[in-house]
Amino acid sequence: APQYPRYTRAEVAQHRTPNDRVWVTHGSDVFDVTDFVELHPGGPDKILLAAGGALEPFWALYAVHGQPHVLELLREYKVGELSPEEAAPPPADTEDPFAGDPPRHPALRVNSQKPFNAEPPPELLTQSFLTPNELFFTRNHLPVPSVEPGSYRLLVEVPGGRSLSLSLAELRRRFPKHEVTATLQCAGNRRSEMSRVRPVKGLSWDIGAISTARWGGARLRDVLLAAGLGDKSGEWHVCFEGLDKDASGTRYGASIPLERAMSPQAEVILAYEMNGQELPRDHGFPLRVVVPGVVGARSVKWLRSVAVSPAESPSHWQQNDYKGFCPSVDWDSVDFRAAPAIQELPVQSAITEPRPGAAVPAGELTVKGYAWSGGGREVIRVDVSLDGGRTWREAELCPRPERGRAWAWALWELRAPVAAGARLELVCKAVDRSYNGQPEGVGGIWNLRGVLSNAWHRVPVTVTR
Ligand code: HEM
Ligand code: MTE
Repeated sequence: APQYPRYTRAEVAQHRTPNDRVWVTHGSDVFDVTDFVELHPGGPDKILLAAGGALEPFWALYAVHGQPHVLELLREYKVGELSPEEAAPPPADTEDPFAGDPPRHPALRVNSQKPFNAEPPPELLTQSFLTPNELFFTRNHLPVPSVEPGSYRLLVEVPGGRSLSLSLAELRRRFPKHEVTATLQCAGNRRSEMSRVRPVKGLSWDIGAISTARWGGARLRDVLLAAGLGDKSGEWHVCFEGLDKDASGTRYGASIPLERAMSPQAEVILAYEMNGQELPRDHGFPLRVVVPGVVGARSVKWLRSVAVSPAESPSHWQQNDYKGFCPSVDWDSVDFRAAPAIQELPVQSAITEPRPGAAVPAGELTVKGYAWSGGGREVIRVDVSLDGGRTWREAELCPRPERGRAWAWALWELRAPVAAGARLELVCKAVDRSYNGQPEGVGGIWNLRGVLSNAWHRVPVTVTR
C-alpha cells in the first residue's frame, strides 16, 4: 500500500478555499478536492461548507452521498492520512458551566459560543422545507441543562385546580399526540441589518434565526384541562419556566395569553418530538413548548413548569426584553413597561441564494428564499425585483403542506435571464393573507434592541461575462 503523509486536523483546517486548496477528511483519510469543487453536482457553495473539516456530518444530512460511486470518486483525491494521536478529544473543563453543552454540527454559523447561539448557512436553510434538526437555529440564553429523562417531572399549576407532576411516560400515555409543522423565528432575526443603520444591543443574527420542523407532543390545552382548569374571565396568562438557570439560580421564563393556550385552533403543544426524533438537547430535551405563529422566545425549552396566572411571566425576557420601540427611544429613555411583549410576529422574507456580493454567471439566474408571517397568516405572494425595487416580478411559491392558516414558512424561487456585466440589486418582499407587507427600509423600524427586523431584503450581485 502507498505511504501517505500524516496531517493533524489543524493542518487540514488551513485548507478552506480554492486559493489555499480545499481539503476535507473522511474517516482517517485526507483529500484535496479543489479540482472537484466546480464539478460537484450539489454545487460548489455546498462542498465549500465542509472545507477544512470532516465530511461525515454533512453527508449524514444528504443521503445521496451514501452510494458507493461517491466514495469511489472521493478516493481519487486522497493526499494523506490523519495523525493517529488525533483521535482523543481534549478533556472537559469542569469549572466551565457550559462544559456539559452538547456537540454541534460544524455547518452552523456561530454568533456566540457560550451561551450557544448559531444559525444554519443560508445555502442550506432553504435546501429542504423541514430544517434538519442538526441545522435548526439555536438560541440559548444559558447553559444547556442535563436532564435525566427517567426522573424528569413537569409541574402544572392551575388556580382553583390541582397541581400535577407529570413524568414523560404519563405525558405520552395520558394525552393524545398532536403534530404540527411550525416555523420558529427569533425576534432578533436579521438584526445585523439593523445594526448597519445604527448600533443595537444583541447578537448579530444574519437571515438564519428562523427554521421549520414538524413537532409532536401533548396539547397544552389538554394538560391544563386535566389539571382542572375551569372557566376564567378577565386577563390570564400561562407562564412557562425552563430548567436552565444562571449562576444566581434565575431561570429562563416566558408567557402567552391563556386564550391562545386554550384555543384548539392555536395548536400550542408541549413537544417531545422534533421531525420524528426525540428533541435534541439544544432544542429543549426532553420537553419544550411550541407556540405556532408566535415569536420563538415564548416556546420555552427544557420545560420545568407551567402555571396559569393573572399576570404575565415575571421573567426578564418577558418584561424587559423582546419588545419593540420607536426609533427615537434610546437606552436612557426606554421604559419597558410602556410596550407590550412581542407575541405574533410581522410578515418576513429573505433571499437565501445567491449571497450578497456573489458573482453569478450570465444566463438564467435562480433566486431562492423563504417567507413567513406570524399568527398563522399564510404568505400569499412574494415579489422579487432585480433592479433595487424599480420593477417587480412574482416568485413561484414551492409546494407546501398547508394552505389558508399556515404555521410554516413558504419557500420560493424566481428564475430570470440576466445579462453579462450587469450589477443587480435583488430585493424581495412578501405579502400575507391580511395583505400586510414589509417596510421598504430599516430606518423607520429601527429599535434599540434590534428586534422585528423585516425590511425588504436586498442582495447586491454582479453578473460575470
Ligand atoms: C450531490 C459528491 C460534499 C451536498 C452529490 C453527488 C455527488 C457528490 C457525486 C451526486 C450524487 C448522485 O446524485 O448520484 C460529493 C463529494 C463531496 C461532497 C465528493 C466532498 C468532497 C458535499 C457537501 C454538501 C453536499 C459538504 C452539503 C453541505 C450535496 C447535495 C447534493 C449532492 C445537496 C444533491 C444535489 C441535487 O440532487 O440537486 N455530491 N459531495 N455535498 N451533494 Fe455532495
Ligand atoms: N427556552 C429556554 N428555557 N431558554 C432559552 O434560552 N430561548 C428562547 C426560546 N426558548 C430559550 C428558550 C428563544 S429567544 C428562542 S428564539 C427559541 O427558544 C429558540 O429555539 P431553538 O433554539 O430551538 O431554535
